[in-house]
Amino acid sequence: MRSMLKLIIVLAMVLFALSACYPNPAPPGLTPIPTLAPGVELTPIGTVEAQVTVAPAAQVTAGADAALPAGNEGQGAAIFAKNCTPCHGQGGQGGGIGPKLVGDKFVQAGPDQNIYNVIANGRPGTAMPAWSKANPPLSDQQIYDLIAYVKSLQK
Ligand code: HEC
Repeated sequence: MRSMLKLIIVLAMVLFALSACYPNPAPPGLTPIPTLAPGVELTPIGTVEAQVTVAPAAQVTAGADAALPAGNEGQGAAIFAKNCTPCHGQGGQGGGIGPKLVGDKFVQAGPDQNIYNVIANGRPGTAMPAWSKANPPLSDQQIYDLIAYVKSLQK
């Protein structure tokens, strides 16, 4: 008789425990998912047409051998006398630590862009300075003038 009572108590506890779990109790703090009011119908949104954007034709970049703007030989001579003679000598005749620029193979070979690059950027690892970064720097036009001048030394 006593064991029967125990069994009933255990069964009651199990039922109580189950009733707490089923159906799952809503966790506190959750807002219920809103539902549509009866009679409200959803209208589908129209299809969105994709906008086709045509990329503009690639900009044509000037090739390395495109002609640089013209330089003024006379101006170039003056700039050369002021900045370049200590190393390349009067009139590019040599005598300093820089090579003679009269009859210079590099200048003769061209194109002007190569001469521009050497003057503007220098020759890293050598004494030839980067004149576009000098203090004060030479402008592009001044470098074009120098190109005209050093080319005139080849004639
Ligand atoms: C501080 C010395 C120095 C000064 C100043 C200098 N140069 Fe040079 N330059 C050199 C040296 C050194 C070289 C050779 C670098 C090498 O070994 O490739 C050179 C190379 C060049 C070359 C290439 C020649 C070749 O045959 O490769 C040109 C062109 C040139 N210089 C132009 C100029 C002009 C223009 C100026 C003035 C704006 C100038 N340099 C000022 C030292 C100088």
